[in-house]
Amino acid sequence: MSEPIVYNPFAYEIHEDPYPTYARMREEEPTYWNPEMGFWALSRFEDVLNGYRDWERFTSTQGIALGESGNISAPSMIGMDPPVQTKLRKLIVRAFTPKRMAAMEPRIRDLTTKFLDTFIEEGECDLIARFAALLPSDVISTLLGAPPEDHSNLRIWTAEMLTREDGVARPPPAAEQASANLVGRFHELIGEKRKRPGEDLISALIAAELEGERLTDEEILGFAMLLIAGGNETTEKLIANTVHQLARHAEQRSTVIADPRRIPAAVEESLRFRSPTQYMVRTTTCDVELHGRTIPKGEQVMLLIGAANHDPRRFDSPERFDIARVMEQHLAFGYGVHFCLGARLARLEARVALEEIHARMPDYEVDEAGISVVHATNVAGLATLPVRFSPSRPSGSGSSRN
Ligand code: HEM
Repeated sequence: MSEPIVYNPFAYEIHEDPYPTYARMREEEPTYWNPEMGFWALSRFEDVLNGYRDWERFTSTQGIALGESGNISAPSMIGMDPPVQTKLRKLIVRAFTPKRMAAMEPRIRDLTTKFLDTFIEEGECDLIARFAALLPSDVISTLLGAPPEDHSNLRIWTAEMLTREDGVARPPPAAEQASANLVGRFHELIGEKRKRPGEDLISALIAAELEGERLTDEEILGFAMLLIAGGNETTEKLIANTVHQLARHAEQRSTVIADPRRIPAAVEESLRFRSPTQYMVRTTTCDVELHGRTIPKGEQVMLLIGAANHDPRRFDSPERFDIARVMEQHLAFGYGVHFCLGARLARLEARVALEEIHARMPDYEVDEAGISVVHATNVAGLATLPVRFSPSRPSGSGSSRN
Protein backbone atom coordinates (compact mmCIF):
# COMPACT_ATOMS: atom_id res chain seq x y z
CA MET A 1 0.00 0.00 0.00
CA SER A 2 1.36 3.38 -0.92
CA GLU A 3 1.09 6.36 1.39
CA PRO A 4 -2.30 8.10 1.32
CA ILE A 5 -2.37 11.17 -0.88
CA VAL A 6 -2.25 14.36 1.14
CA TYR A 7 -3.21 17.37 -0.92
CA ASN A 8 -3.38 20.69 0.93
CA PRO A 9 -3.63 23.47 -1.68
CA PHE A 10 -2.26 25.98 0.82
CA ALA A 11 0.90 23.97 1.66
CA TYR A 12 4.00 25.80 0.53
CA GLU A 13 5.60 22.58 -0.73
CA ILE A 14 2.61 22.10 -3.05
CA HIS A 15 3.20 25.60 -4.42
CA GLU A 16 6.80 24.62 -5.20
CA ASP A 17 5.72 21.61 -7.26
CA PRO A 18 2.14 20.31 -7.26
CA TYR A 19 2.57 18.05 -10.29
CA PRO A 20 3.65 14.76 -8.63
CA THR A 21 0.67 15.04 -6.25
CA TYR A 22 -1.68 15.86 -9.14
CA ALA A 23 -0.41 12.79 -11.02
CA ARG A 24 -1.21 10.55 -8.06
CA MET A 25 -4.66 12.10 -7.66
CA ARG A 26 -5.48 11.57 -11.35
CA GLU A 27 -4.33 7.95 -11.30
CA GLU A 28 -5.15 6.70 -7.81
CA GLU A 29 -7.98 8.87 -6.51
CA PRO A 30 -9.69 10.81 -9.30
CA THR A 31 -12.53 11.64 -6.91
CA TYR A 32 -10.25 12.82 -4.11
CA TRP A 33 -11.52 13.49 -0.59
CA ASN A 34 -9.54 15.38 2.04
CA PRO A 35 -11.12 14.47 5.40
CA GLU A 36 -9.05 16.93 7.48
CA MET A 37 -9.93 19.94 5.38
CA GLY A 38 -13.34 18.69 4.26
CA PHE A 39 -13.18 19.11 0.50
CA TRP A 40 -13.27 16.97 -2.64
CA ALA A 41 -11.05 17.48 -5.69
CA LEU A 42 -11.31 16.47 -9.34
CA SER A 43 -8.11 16.27 -11.34
CA ARG A 44 -8.78 14.53 -14.67
CA PHE A 45 -9.34 16.78 -17.68
CA GLU A 46 -12.79 15.42 -18.54
CA ASP A 47 -14.03 15.63 -14.95
CA VAL A 48 -12.76 19.17 -14.44
CA LEU A 49 -14.25 20.27 -17.75
CA ASN A 50 -17.60 18.72 -16.83
CA GLY A 51 -17.49 20.39 -13.42
CA TYR A 52 -17.14 23.82 -15.05
CA ARG A 53 -19.75 22.97 -17.66
CA ASP A 54 -22.36 21.59 -15.25
CA TRP A 55 -23.19 24.66 -13.17
CA GLU A 56 -26.53 23.18 -12.14
CA ARG A 57 -24.87 20.35 -10.18
CA PHE A 58 -21.68 22.32 -9.37
CA THR A 59 -22.86 25.72 -8.17
CA SER A 60 -20.73 28.83 -7.70
CA THR A 61 -23.18 30.38 -5.24
CA GLN A 62 -21.69 28.83 -2.08
CA GLY A 63 -18.23 30.38 -2.50
CA ILE A 64 -15.52 29.80 -5.07
CA ALA A 65 -12.70 29.58 -2.54
CA LEU A 66 -12.10 26.84 0.03
CA GLY A 67 -13.48 27.14 3.53
CA GLU A 68 -14.46 30.77 3.14
CA SER A 69 -17.14 32.67 1.35
CA GLY A 70 -14.51 34.03 -1.03
CA ASN A 71 -11.56 36.36 -0.74
CA ILE A 72 -13.29 38.94 -2.82
CA SER A 73 -14.97 41.12 -0.25
CA ALA A 74 -18.00 42.08 -2.27
CA PRO A 75 -20.53 39.82 -3.98
CA SER A 76 -19.93 39.55 -7.70
CA MET A 77 -21.01 37.49 -10.68
CA ILE A 78 -18.20 34.98 -10.25
CA GLY A 79 -20.07 33.75 -7.18
CA MET A 80 -23.43 33.50 -8.94
CA ASP A 81 -25.15 31.07 -11.32
CA PRO A 82 -27.27 31.80 -14.38
CA PRO A 83 -29.61 33.54 -14.94
CA VAL A 84 -28.47 36.32 -12.57
CA GLN A 85 -24.81 35.83 -13.51
CA THR A 86 -25.70 35.98 -17.21
CA LYS A 87 -27.40 39.35 -16.79
CA LEU A 88 -24.53 40.86 -14.82
CA ARG A 89 -21.95 39.47 -17.24
CA LYS A 90 -23.76 41.11 -20.15
CA LEU A 91 -23.14 44.48 -18.51
CA ILE A 92 -19.38 44.30 -18.80
CA VAL A 93 -18.84 41.93 -21.67
CA ARG A 94 -18.84 44.97 -23.97
CA ALA A 95 -15.72 46.32 -22.26
CA PHE A 96 -13.80 43.24 -23.47
CA THR A 97 -14.84 42.91 -27.12
CA PRO A 98 -12.13 42.20 -29.76
CA LYS A 99 -12.55 45.77 -31.02
CA ARG A 100 -12.00 47.30 -27.58
CA MET A 101 -9.04 45.05 -26.95
CA ALA A 102 -7.46 45.99 -30.29
CA ALA A 103 -7.91 49.64 -29.34
CA MET A 104 -5.97 49.02 -26.13
CA GLU A 105 -2.94 47.52 -27.85
CA PRO A 106 -1.04 50.78 -28.53
CA ARG A 107 -1.39 51.81 -24.90
CA ILE A 108 -0.26 48.39 -23.67
CA ARG A 109 2.76 48.62 -25.99
CA ASP A 110 3.61 52.12 -24.77
CA LEU A 111 3.41 51.01 -21.17
CA THR A 112 5.55 47.98 -21.93
CA THR A 113 8.33 49.97 -23.58
CA LYS A 114 8.16 52.54 -20.79
CA PHE A 115 8.71 49.85 -18.14
CA LEU A 116 11.46 48.13 -20.15
CA ASP A 117 13.22 51.49 -20.58
CA THR A 118 13.57 51.86 -16.81
CA PHE A 119 15.97 48.91 -16.55
CA ILE A 120 17.15 47.99 -20.05
CA GLU A 121 20.59 49.59 -19.58
CA GLU A 122 21.17 47.71 -16.31
CA GLY A 123 21.61 44.32 -17.96
CA GLU A 124 19.87 42.49 -15.14
CA CYS A 125 16.75 42.80 -12.98
CA ASP A 126 13.91 40.98 -11.30
CA LEU A 127 11.58 40.90 -14.27
CA ILE A 128 8.51 40.55 -12.05
CA ALA A 129 9.19 43.53 -9.79
CA ARG A 130 10.33 45.75 -12.65
CA PHE A 131 7.85 44.69 -15.31
CA ALA A 132 5.51 41.67 -15.13
CA ALA A 133 3.78 42.87 -11.95
CA LEU A 134 3.45 46.44 -13.18
CA LEU A 135 1.92 46.06 -16.63
CA PRO A 136 -1.32 44.16 -15.80
CA SER A 137 -1.99 46.28 -12.75
CA ASP A 138 -1.57 49.51 -14.70
CA VAL A 139 -3.84 48.20 -17.45
CA ILE A 140 -6.66 47.16 -15.10
CA SER A 141 -6.37 50.18 -12.86
CA THR A 142 -6.63 52.42 -15.93
CA LEU A 143 -9.54 50.41 -17.30
CA LEU A 144 -11.37 50.90 -14.01
CA GLY A 145 -10.57 54.60 -13.98
CA ALA A 146 -8.21 54.74 -10.99
CA PRO A 147 -5.79 57.70 -11.19
CA PRO A 148 -2.08 56.86 -11.77
CA GLU A 149 -1.13 57.68 -8.18
CA ASP A 150 -3.39 54.81 -7.02
CA HIS A 151 -1.91 52.11 -9.25
CA SER A 152 0.92 51.07 -6.99
CA ASN A 153 -1.30 50.75 -3.90
CA LEU A 154 -3.96 48.82 -5.80
CA ARG A 155 -1.32 46.37 -7.01
CA ILE A 156 0.29 45.89 -3.60
CA TRP A 157 -3.06 45.44 -1.82
CA THR A 158 -4.28 42.95 -4.42
CA ALA A 159 -1.18 40.78 -4.05
CA GLU A 160 -1.38 41.00 -0.24
CA MET A 161 -5.09 40.12 -0.23
CA LEU A 162 -4.40 36.81 -1.99
CA THR A 163 -1.44 35.78 0.22
CA ARG A 164 -1.82 32.82 2.59
CA GLU A 165 0.22 31.29 5.42
CA ASP A 166 1.69 27.81 4.99
CA GLY A 167 -1.12 25.24 4.91
CA VAL A 168 -3.84 27.64 6.14
CA ALA A 169 -6.96 28.48 4.14
CA ARG A 170 -8.03 31.42 6.30
CA PRO A 171 -6.69 34.78 5.17
CA PRO A 172 -4.08 36.22 7.59
CA PRO A 173 -4.83 39.64 9.15
CA ALA A 174 -2.60 41.39 6.58
CA ALA A 175 -4.69 39.91 3.74
CA GLU A 176 -7.91 41.04 5.39
CA GLN A 177 -6.47 44.52 5.91
CA ALA A 178 -5.40 44.69 2.26
CA SER A 179 -8.87 43.64 1.17
CA ALA A 180 -10.40 46.33 3.40
CA ASN A 181 -8.02 48.90 1.90
CA LEU A 182 -9.13 47.97 -1.61
CA VAL A 183 -12.80 48.13 -0.66
CA GLY A 184 -12.30 51.52 0.98
CA ARG A 185 -10.48 53.01 -1.99
CA PHE A 186 -12.98 51.64 -4.50
CA HIS A 187 -15.87 53.05 -2.46
CA GLU A 188 -14.21 56.47 -2.66
CA LEU A 189 -13.58 56.07 -6.37
CA ILE A 190 -17.19 55.10 -7.05
CA GLY A 191 -18.29 58.21 -5.14
CA GLU A 192 -15.90 60.38 -7.17
CA LYS A 193 -17.09 58.86 -10.48
CA ARG A 194 -20.71 59.44 -9.56
CA LYS A 195 -19.88 63.15 -9.29
CA ARG A 196 -17.47 63.33 -12.22
CA PRO A 197 -17.90 60.44 -14.65
CA GLY A 198 -15.09 59.58 -17.05
CA GLU A 199 -14.49 57.22 -19.96
CA ASP A 200 -13.74 54.31 -17.65
CA LEU A 201 -15.47 51.08 -16.63
CA ILE A 202 -16.63 52.26 -13.20
CA SER A 203 -18.31 55.28 -14.81
CA ALA A 204 -19.87 53.00 -17.43
CA LEU A 205 -21.24 50.73 -14.70
CA ILE A 206 -22.65 53.71 -12.83
CA ALA A 207 -24.52 54.71 -16.02
CA ALA A 208 -25.61 51.13 -16.85
CA GLU A 209 -29.08 49.78 -16.17
CA LEU A 210 -30.08 46.26 -15.27
CA GLU A 211 -33.75 45.60 -16.02
CA GLY A 212 -34.51 49.29 -15.74
CA GLU A 213 -32.59 49.75 -12.50
CA ARG A 214 -29.21 51.30 -11.82
CA LEU A 215 -26.48 49.24 -10.15
CA THR A 216 -25.88 49.83 -6.46
CA ASP A 217 -22.48 50.86 -5.10
CA GLU A 218 -22.07 47.32 -3.72
CA GLU A 219 -22.65 45.79 -7.14
CA ILE A 220 -20.14 48.14 -8.78
CA LEU A 221 -17.69 47.41 -5.99
CA GLY A 222 -18.16 43.68 -6.71
CA PHE A 223 -17.14 44.22 -10.33
CA ALA A 224 -14.12 46.31 -9.37
CA MET A 225 -12.88 43.77 -6.83
CA LEU A 226 -13.43 40.92 -9.25
CA LEU A 227 -11.47 42.56 -12.05
CA ILE A 228 -8.59 43.65 -9.87
CA ALA A 229 -8.36 40.27 -8.11
CA GLY A 230 -8.88 38.22 -11.27
CA GLY A 231 -6.72 40.07 -13.70
CA ASN A 232 -3.64 41.31 -11.88
CA GLU A 233 -1.55 38.47 -10.51
CA THR A 234 -2.81 35.95 -13.05
CA THR A 235 -1.55 37.96 -16.01
CA GLU A 236 1.67 38.78 -14.15
CA LYS A 237 2.31 35.05 -13.67
CA LEU A 238 1.47 34.32 -17.30
CA ILE A 239 4.07 36.80 -18.56
CA ALA A 240 6.73 35.64 -16.09
CA ASN A 241 6.09 31.92 -16.65
CA THR A 242 6.31 32.31 -20.41
CA VAL A 243 9.63 34.17 -20.22
CA HIS A 244 10.92 31.56 -17.77
CA GLN A 245 10.00 28.60 -19.95
CA LEU A 246 11.37 30.20 -23.11
CA ALA A 247 14.64 30.92 -21.30
CA ARG A 248 14.79 27.26 -20.30
CA HIS A 249 14.09 26.10 -23.85
CA ALA A 250 16.51 28.16 -25.92
CA GLU A 251 15.70 26.42 -29.20
CA GLN A 252 11.98 27.23 -28.80
CA ARG A 253 12.84 30.80 -27.94
CA SER A 254 14.91 31.07 -31.12
CA THR A 255 11.94 29.87 -33.13
CA VAL A 256 9.74 32.51 -31.55
CA ILE A 257 12.29 35.27 -32.03
CA ALA A 258 12.73 34.28 -35.68
CA ASP A 259 8.97 34.33 -36.18
CA PRO A 260 7.05 36.46 -33.63
CA ARG A 261 3.80 35.12 -35.05
CA ARG A 262 4.53 32.06 -32.94
CA ILE A 263 4.29 34.02 -29.70
CA PRO A 264 0.56 33.23 -29.22
CA ALA A 265 1.39 29.49 -29.41
CA ALA A 266 4.07 29.97 -26.75
CA VAL A 267 1.58 31.85 -24.56
CA GLU A 268 -1.04 29.08 -24.92
CA GLU A 269 1.49 26.40 -24.03
CA SER A 270 2.57 28.46 -21.04
CA LEU A 271 -1.07 28.76 -19.93
CA ARG A 272 -1.40 24.99 -20.10
CA PHE A 273 2.00 24.13 -18.67
CA ARG A 274 1.98 26.54 -15.71
CA SER A 275 -1.64 27.63 -15.32
CA PRO A 276 -1.72 30.86 -13.28
CA THR A 277 -5.09 29.94 -11.75
CA GLN A 278 -4.65 26.43 -10.38
CA TYR A 279 -8.26 25.79 -9.39
CA MET A 280 -11.71 27.14 -8.67
CA VAL A 281 -14.17 25.73 -6.12
CA ARG A 282 -17.78 24.68 -6.57
CA THR A 283 -20.43 23.13 -4.28
CA THR A 284 -22.55 20.13 -5.22
CA THR A 285 -26.30 20.77 -5.39
CA CYS A 286 -27.08 17.01 -5.33
CA ASP A 287 -25.24 13.73 -4.78
CA VAL A 288 -22.74 13.25 -7.61
CA GLU A 289 -21.44 9.76 -8.52
CA LEU A 290 -17.96 9.71 -10.02
CA HIS A 291 -15.41 6.90 -10.40
CA GLY A 292 -17.25 4.69 -7.92
CA ARG A 293 -17.57 7.32 -5.19
CA THR A 294 -20.43 9.58 -4.20
CA ILE A 295 -19.80 13.23 -3.51
CA PRO A 296 -22.72 14.13 -1.24
CA LYS A 297 -24.89 17.18 -1.85
CA GLY A 298 -23.56 20.39 -0.30
CA GLU A 299 -19.84 19.51 -0.44
CA GLN A 300 -17.05 21.75 -1.70
CA VAL A 301 -15.32 20.41 -4.81
CA MET A 302 -12.05 21.75 -6.16
CA LEU A 303 -11.82 21.72 -9.94
CA LEU A 304 -8.07 21.40 -10.44
CA ILE A 305 -7.12 23.28 -13.59
CA GLY A 306 -3.42 22.68 -12.99
CA ALA A 307 -3.94 18.91 -12.81
CA ALA A 308 -6.36 18.78 -15.75
CA ASN A 309 -3.91 20.63 -17.98
CA HIS A 310 -1.29 17.92 -17.26
CA ASP A 311 -3.58 14.95 -17.84
CA PRO A 312 -1.87 12.45 -20.15
CA ARG A 313 -5.34 11.25 -21.24
CA ARG A 314 -5.64 14.61 -22.96
CA PHE A 315 -2.09 15.82 -23.71
CA ASP A 316 0.85 13.87 -25.14
CA SER A 317 3.85 14.09 -22.80
CA PRO A 318 2.14 16.75 -20.67
CA GLU A 319 5.28 17.40 -18.59
CA ARG A 320 7.06 18.69 -21.69
CA PHE A 321 6.90 22.39 -22.58
CA ASP A 322 6.32 22.37 -26.31
CA ILE A 323 5.10 25.40 -28.21
CA ALA A 324 4.60 23.26 -31.33
CA ARG A 325 2.05 21.08 -29.55
CA VAL A 326 -1.27 20.78 -31.34
CA MET A 327 -3.72 21.76 -28.63
CA GLU A 328 -7.44 21.86 -29.12
CA GLN A 329 -8.25 23.25 -25.70
CA HIS A 330 -6.84 23.84 -22.23
CA LEU A 331 -8.65 24.90 -19.08
CA ALA A 332 -6.43 27.75 -17.87
CA PHE A 333 -9.29 30.25 -18.28
CA GLY A 334 -11.96 27.87 -16.98
CA TYR A 335 -14.87 26.82 -19.15
CA GLY A 336 -18.57 27.48 -19.63
CA VAL A 337 -20.66 30.27 -18.16
CA HIS A 338 -17.80 31.73 -16.10
CA PHE A 339 -15.15 31.42 -18.83
CA CYS A 340 -12.63 34.15 -18.09
CA LEU A 341 -13.84 37.47 -19.30
CA GLY A 342 -10.31 38.84 -19.38
CA ALA A 343 -8.79 36.02 -21.46
CA ARG A 344 -8.47 38.19 -24.53
CA LEU A 345 -6.84 40.99 -22.53
CA ALA A 346 -4.44 38.62 -20.77
CA ARG A 347 -3.40 37.09 -24.11
CA LEU A 348 -2.92 40.53 -25.61
CA GLU A 349 -0.76 41.73 -22.72
CA ALA A 350 1.36 38.57 -22.82
CA ARG A 351 1.83 38.80 -26.58
CA VAL A 352 2.87 42.45 -26.52
CA ALA A 353 5.15 41.84 -23.52
CA LEU A 354 6.93 38.99 -25.32
CA GLU A 355 7.21 40.94 -28.58
CA GLU A 356 8.87 43.88 -26.85
CA ILE A 357 11.10 41.75 -24.60
CA HIS A 358 12.33 39.84 -27.64
CA ALA A 359 12.95 43.07 -29.52
CA ARG A 360 14.93 44.64 -26.66
CA MET A 361 16.60 41.84 -24.68
CA PRO A 362 16.34 38.64 -26.74
CA ASP A 363 19.21 36.80 -25.04
CA TYR A 364 17.72 36.85 -21.50
CA GLU A 365 18.97 34.21 -19.08
CA VAL A 366 17.25 33.29 -15.84
CA ASP A 367 19.15 32.92 -12.57
CA GLU A 368 17.36 29.75 -11.44
CA ALA A 369 18.83 30.01 -7.92
CA GLY A 370 17.12 33.36 -7.42
CA ILE A 371 13.66 32.19 -8.35
CA SER A 372 10.88 31.94 -5.75
CA VAL A 373 7.21 31.06 -6.02
CA VAL A 374 4.16 32.88 -4.72
CA HIS A 375 2.12 31.58 -1.78
CA ALA A 376 -1.37 32.73 -2.56
CA THR A 377 -4.90 31.36 -2.74
CA ASN A 378 -5.48 29.74 -6.11
CA VAL A 379 -2.90 31.76 -8.04
CA ALA A 380 0.36 29.94 -8.66
CA GLY A 381 3.60 30.92 -10.28
CA LEU A 382 6.77 32.88 -9.80
CA ALA A 383 7.20 35.60 -7.20
CA THR A 384 10.68 36.58 -8.42
CA LEU A 385 12.34 36.09 -11.80
CA PRO A 386 15.94 37.34 -11.85
CA VAL A 387 17.13 37.76 -15.44
CA ARG A 388 20.39 38.84 -17.12
CA PHE A 389 20.57 40.12 -20.68
CA SER A 390 22.53 42.31 -23.03
CA PRO A 391 20.45 45.34 -23.91
CA SER A 392 19.73 45.90 -27.55
CA ARG A 393 18.27 49.07 -28.96
CA PRO A 394 14.93 48.64 -30.70
CA SER A 395 15.32 48.70 -34.46
CA GLY A 396 11.86 50.17 -34.88
CA SER A 397 10.51 46.83 -35.93
CA GLY A 398 11.20 43.58 -34.07
CA SER A 399 7.57 43.21 -33.15
CA SER A 400 4.34 42.83 -35.01
CA ARG A 401 3.28 46.42 -34.64
CA ASN A 402 1.28 46.51 -37.83
C1 HEM B 1 -3.63 34.75 -17.35
C2 HEM B 1 -4.55 35.50 -16.84
C3 HEM B 1 -5.87 34.99 -16.33
C4 HEM B 1 -6.23 33.74 -15.92
C5 HEM B 1 -5.38 32.49 -15.86
C6 HEM B 1 -7.64 33.81 -15.53
C7 HEM B 1 -8.37 32.73 -15.09
C8 HEM B 1 -9.75 32.74 -14.90
C9 HEM B 1 -10.56 31.59 -14.60
C10 HEM B 1 -10.04 30.17 -14.42
C11 HEM B 1 -11.84 31.99 -14.50
C12 HEM B 1 -13.07 31.11 -14.24
C13 HEM B 1 -13.60 31.25 -12.83
C14 HEM B 1 -14.70 30.24 -12.51
O1 HEM B 1 -15.06 29.42 -13.33
O2 HEM B 1 -15.18 30.27 -11.36
C15 HEM B 1 -11.86 33.42 -14.70
C16 HEM B 1 -12.97 34.21 -14.64
C17 HEM B 1 -12.93 35.57 -14.73
N1 HEM B 1 -11.84 36.34 -15.08
FE1 HEM B 1 -9.98 35.71 -15.50
N2 HEM B 1 -8.06 35.10 -15.69
C18 HEM B 1 -7.02 35.85 -16.20
C19 HEM B 1 -7.04 37.19 -16.53
C20 HEM B 1 -8.13 37.99 -16.35
C21 HEM B 1 -8.14 39.42 -16.64
C22 HEM B 1 -6.99 40.21 -17.23
C23 HEM B 1 -9.38 39.86 -16.26
C24 HEM B 1 -9.96 41.23 -16.32
C25 HEM B 1 -9.50 42.28 -16.81
C26 HEM B 1 -10.14 38.72 -15.79
C27 HEM B 1 -11.44 38.76 -15.36
C28 HEM B 1 -12.22 37.66 -15.08
C29 HEM B 1 -13.62 37.75 -14.72
C30 HEM B 1 -14.45 39.02 -14.61
C31 HEM B 1 -14.08 36.44 -14.50
C32 HEM B 1 -15.46 35.99 -14.04
C33 HEM B 1 -16.37 35.73 -15.19
C34 HEM B 1 -17.74 35.29 -14.74
O3 HEM B 1 -17.97 35.01 -13.55
O4 HEM B 1 -18.63 35.23 -15.60
N3 HEM B 1 -9.34 37.62 -15.84
N4 HEM B 1 -10.56 33.84 -14.96
